[in-house]
Amino acid sequence: MGDDGHHGHDGYAVRAEGLEKRYGEKRALDGFDLAVREGTVHGLLGPNGAGKTTAVRILSTLIRLDGGRATVAGLDVARQPREVRARIGLTGQYAAVDEVLTGRQNLEMFGRLFHLGGRRAKLRATELLEQFDLTDAADRGVGKYSGGMRRRLDLAASMILAPTVLFLDEPTTGLDPRSRGEVWESVRALVAGGTTVLLTTQYLEEADKLASHITVIDQGRAIADDTPDGLKNLVGGDRIEVVVAERSDIPRVVKVVARVSDGEPEAEEGESRVHAPVIDRVSALTEVARTLQDEGVQVEDIGLRRPSLDDVFLRLTGHRTEKAEQADKPDKADKAEKGQKTQKGAAV
Ligand SMILES: Nc1ncnc2c1ncn2[C@@H]1O[C@H](COP(=O)(O)OP(=O)(O)OP(=O)(O)O)[C@@H](O)[C@H]1O
Ligand SMILES: [Mg+2]
Repeated sequence: MGDDGHHGHDGYAVRAEGLEKRYGEKRALDGFDLAVREGTVHGLLGPNGAGKTTAVRILSTLIRLDGGRATVAGLDVARQPREVRARIGLTGQYAAVDEVLTGRQNLEMFGRLFHLGGRRAKLRATELLEQFDLTDAADRGVGKYSGGMRRRLDLAASMILAPTVLFLDEPTTGLDPRSRGEVWESVRALVAGGTTVLLTTQYLEEADKLASHITVIDQGRAIADDTPDGLKNLVGGDRIEVVVAERSDIPRVVKVVARVSDGEPEAEEGESRVHAPVIDRVSALTEVARTLQDEGVQVEDIGLRRPSLDDVFLRLTGHRTEKAEQADKPDKADKAEKGQKTQKGAAV
């Protein structure tokens, strides 16, 4: 938005090149690259231990990098940490607000921490309570807030100085769907106001909903960088999906689907589900439906679906995200292998 008076960062609010961070033998970041365009929400997506929080801590100057280079709002995080701090906000993975104080008192306290002075701190608190829809709860103790309200208060606290760049580390982890939706709304409002947001998440759906661009991180490196749709296209477009009534029918369904698919079908035994990438969507669907009917296979559901980011993750890393793993536990090692094969088969 050019509101920081600095030039020469080419439309990027955040740039990182070859970031390294070691903890003993462990390489938390291992040549990590990132480029976040001004005025966008950028998702940093990865499983537990991928290096998301480490990246956010380096970019927000909380810890030092061991190698590489990073700028935020055009300022070097290693050489100009104070200037960087004046332009950023940070909401950590764990809520930072005080339970005993009211929402308003919390925000006033943060305002004074940022040297706003009593009157301006009060004024800013009132504005933020309004913006995050917390006016009604403003004078209640935070101990009585719901998870979603608390997260919104956290967001408000990180916005005291209207940052150019806001870092949100897993802002909705542990929230129920409704609170999650409320936080998403707040983030959209911030970006409409000109803030750039770097959002880390383990939720593929969250990155899909909020971010215009996603960097996938695994083992301290960026392994993909694209739009949500671009990532989905990586997996090879639409998939046909068949759910059968009898699990014993799965091998037959795999055979039938394999005839029309553009890659090896995957079977999810736990859910009695078979799916595979297809190119000629409609003819694939009609042929599979007709053949299964002819063979007397009882089909519960059949359809075409866009690949999810779970599919993307499997494709890129050869392993699934934890959430997806929990959803269908059986033969996960086997499945990861199949994912690799599909990847090669479809890579034309
Ligand atoms: N202070 C530390 N000391 C030692 N190892 C650390 C430290 N901080 C992070 N690590 C290790 O570095 C790796 C990356 O951790 P990081 O917290 O950045 O992951 P993350 O992607 O944020 O994971 P999560 O989704 O669980 O929050 C992990 O293996 C972690 O155990
Ligand atoms: Mg983390």
